[in-house]
Amino acid sequence: TYVVNEKCIKCKLMDCVEVCPVDCFYEGKNMLVIKPEECIDCGVCEPECPVDAIVADTEPGSDKWVELNTKYSEIWPNITTKKDPPEDNEKYKNEEKKFDKYFS
Ligand code: SF4
Ligand code: F3S
Repeated sequence: TYVVNEKCIKCKLMDCVEVCPVDCFYEGKNMLVIKPEECIDCGVCEPECPVDAIVADTEPGSDKWVELNTKYSEIWPNITTKKDPPEDNEKYKNEEKKFDKYFS
């Protein structure tokens, strides 16, 4: 599976949702997640994210994000159409440790 990591938080650019053939993105207030059990591992979304927030679960350090994507994709609503990203998204682009600061 592919999953979304903390680079998405407060950037939420949503270029990823339009390309997914199985519509498995889910929307929280500050980020999107992928539902791992629905992802068919096609990899199409990965290059679409301008901030490289989408990673394969085979990448080191992805365990935490697999867990988070699994949990919140059960709770958050499905999203299949790109909306406007947050106006101040640029500000958060290169920020580190966004999960600790902004995930709620
Ligand atoms: Fe959707 Fe493919 Fe990305 Fe999985 S890897 S979330 S199926 S676009
Ligand atoms: Fe987030 Fe990147 Fe999609 S910022 S909403 S994973 S295009």
